[in-house]
Amino acid sequence: MIKKCLFPVAGYGTRFLPATKSMPKEMLPIVNKPLVQYGVEEAIEAGLTEIGFVTGRGKRAIADHFDVSYELEHQIAGSSKEEYLASIRDVMSKGSFSFTRQPSMAGLGDAILQGKRLIGNEPFGVVLSDDLCVADDGVLSQMVRLYKQFRCSIVAVQEVPQEDISKFGVIAGEQMKDGIYQVNDMVEKPAPEDAPSNLAIIGRYILTPDIFDIIENTAPGKNDEVQLTDALLQQAKDGCVLAYKFKGQRFDCGAVSGFVDATNYVYENVYGK
Ligand code: UTP
Repeated sequence: MIKKCLFPVAGYGTRFLPATKSMPKEMLPIVNKPLVQYGVEEAIEAGLTEIGFVTGRGKRAIADHFDVSYELEHQIAGSSKEEYLASIRDVMSKGSFSFTRQPSMAGLGDAILQGKRLIGNEPFGVVLSDDLCVADDGVLSQMVRLYKQFRCSIVAVQEVPQEDISKFGVIAGEQMKDGIYQVNDMVEKPAPEDAPSNLAIIGRYILTPDIFDIIENTAPGKNDEVQLTDALLQQAKDGCVLAYKFKGQRFDCGAVSGFVDATNYVYENVYGK
């Protein structure tokens, strides 16, 4: 029912400079696999096989990663090294990959709006691949099941300590069921004393397509960027947005410490298993 997933990957990744000076942040490897591939695998596992990237300048390595490398294929054909390509070959056989550009870094809301031409008029997933989620049952799969039940936009949330809350969009809502909230307020990167709760939005969303019109009518907010959080608050006021406390672990790989934690965790618990 939901077939498409958008990956906004136009950001500069300044927290990872100088590594990200000429290389996209999304291509940084967690052990032996680029961050973005983990996100795409999670989307495909959830049945979202039409993958759309909103890219920017300097991001061509992402497009190359999801395309055939003839020289490499030719070089290692028939050798024992072929197994190293198994996971990306599997992803490429199951998914289709489209690209559009965000001309200027005008915010996550603007990046999603640029993706409208890849999505059209249907519900879709969004993955911010610098949030690496590890779960037996993929976080997007959990959210797709919830969407089938409620048919409205859903944001994934997790509880975060007060000192970290100002790094996130934060929701307030009424708990409908265990771990499912109907959102009635949302604030982007609040000061700790202004945070409406300790429930922070992480980089997994299911969005209904009316979000595009709402974003078009959303003025730039925090940091003068068009904030997805502001558009989602409007959508919550007009209709319904759910927040879902997902089951699993999330690592903020956009920051060095989260990246190192993810590397250690994946090496010990996921790699080679
Ligand atoms: P971040 O702010 O975490 O990513 O945006 P960044 O800008 O790449 O990183 P830093 O802060 O400079 O280190 C969250 C996500 O939204 C995308 C980014 O690529 C990232 O995946 N994004 C953000 C866009 O695609 N376009 C934008 O205008 C803003």
